[in-house]
Amino acid sequence: MKKNQIIDILKSGQVGAEITVKGWVRTRRGSKNVSFIALNDGSTINNLQVVADAENFAEEILKHINTGAAIAATGKLVESAGSGQSVELQAEKIEIIGKADPDKYPIQPKRHTLEFLRDVAHLRPRTATYSAIFRIRHKLIFAIHNFFNERGFYNIHTPIVTSSDAEGAGEMFRVTTLPMNDLPKTEDGEIDYSEDFFGKSTNLTVSGQLEGELFAMAMSRIYTFGPTFRAENSNTSRHLAEFWMIEPEVAFFDLNDNMDLAEEFLQYLIRYALDNCIDDLQFLSKRLQEEEKNKPADQRSMELIEKLKFVADNEFVRLTYTEAIDILKNSKQNKKGKFQYPIEGFGTDLQSEHERYLVEKKFQKPVILTDYPKEIKAFYMRMNDDNQTVAAMDVLFPQIGEIIGGSQREERLEVLESRMAEMNIPADEMQWYLDTRRFGGCQHAGFGLGFERLVQFVTGMGNIRDVIPFPRTPKNCEF
Ligand code: 4AD
Ligand code: MG
Repeated sequence: MKKNQIIDILKSGQVGAEITVKGWVRTRRGSKNVSFIALNDGSTINNLQVVADAENFAEEILKHINTGAAIAATGKLVESAGSGQSVELQAEKIEIIGKADPDKYPIQPKRHTLEFLRDVAHLRPRTATYSAIFRIRHKLIFAIHNFFNERGFYNIHTPIVTSSDAEGAGEMFRVTTLPMNDLPKTEDGEIDYSEDFFGKSTNLTVSGQLEGELFAMAMSRIYTFGPTFRAENSNTSRHLAEFWMIEPEVAFFDLNDNMDLAEEFLQYLIRYALDNCIDDLQFLSKRLQEEEKNKPADQRSMELIEKLKFVADNEFVRLTYTEAIDILKNSKQNKKGKFQYPIEGFGTDLQSEHERYLVEKKFQKPVILTDYPKEIKAFYMRMNDDNQTVAAMDVLFPQIGEIIGGSQREERLEVLESRMAEMNIPADEMQWYLDTRRFGGCQHAGFGLGFERLVQFVTGMGNIRDVIPFPRTPKNCEF
């Protein structure tokens, strides 16, 4: 395939070459005699400047070179006098491929708010900010597969339609072919799923972990990377109803191995973005700096690239849930003598303000919290010797909070069965899972990285809706 995308043209900078380039007009400025067109095709944050001398073009062409129009420009690459670009195109021919009426096209050649752009989500990839985010998202997908491939992991596609609730939290989207208004009922008045396509109650997956475990206990190192769905009614800047998760699962791993893998993985991905997306990161950083100017000095966060380098180069803090509770209990008192981050004590789940205190104020580094009380974690986590806590780990990041959740898994059949009974997990429907403990069971561990939270961290975006092409949130599914 011929390399004539703007990214290649700007890189090779072959002065004198005769080329045709196609893209969308970002802006057009100039005078009666000459137009400077900033052309972008989405391949890079940088625009190619197309110079059109008015005398060479009919008014019929010039009047349609508006923001948003698709055009093809043919001409010679010449050295550019403008700063920040080595070459520009001296246009000899311009074809209007697709007009964009400036009175109707919603994206104007100015800075729009992210809220406004969310309302025109179908057109927002045309903007510099969103195309930068989605290029970085793409590079990170690549980096994830690279990381695991280099380390002998196999990628396993786990099912999207499933009958299991991996997290046991009941936050599932139902999948059924039964009639909407006339659901068949059993004698007990329950919905009769035996009438359904799958013959039982099915839902969209909340996690590929349990199926992943089956493969880890056959192929040793595996990972999943797929869409997951949570029907939780959370309207926050960190939650989506449909998000992508990466779940490695490793046989013969314990919690320490799992923490080492998570830390190495995150640092690799951040380093990869720094090495491969620097133009887009610099653009986003500048954008953020402008936003930060409106905040009081003590609330401004670290410059994006500096922050990424810091996290990529510094060891994460590791501490237990119990230690974290002690730290929070003794957190500074405010002027009224009240603790700034009050917490009830052992057994309570940490709120995001607690997590952010630990990461952003106390340690100023990512933190891996381990050994949570069994009551607040899933049934499959390995029981510790104290019978109170489980071998869980959450990785907490600045501005994000929980970015990874994982654990060593309970491999002892009797312990697992009794945990399932305590937590009302239907063991009779999960014999396939329990078989891995019955036959050749072994120590193993894994975790799930929320892909959008990672993209949020790397791009510095405050709202998760801005890092996924088509966000699904409560009451929001336009197309
Ligand atoms: O902590 P979670 O629920 O863990 C699991 O699903 C395990 N089965 C993972 C495993 O051990 N294999 O989710 C894992 C991560 C969270 O840390 C968070 O980053 C992300 O998935 N996540 C969400 N991201 C966006 N929107 C939501 N509603 C999310 N819920 C979880
Ligand atoms: Mg979690």
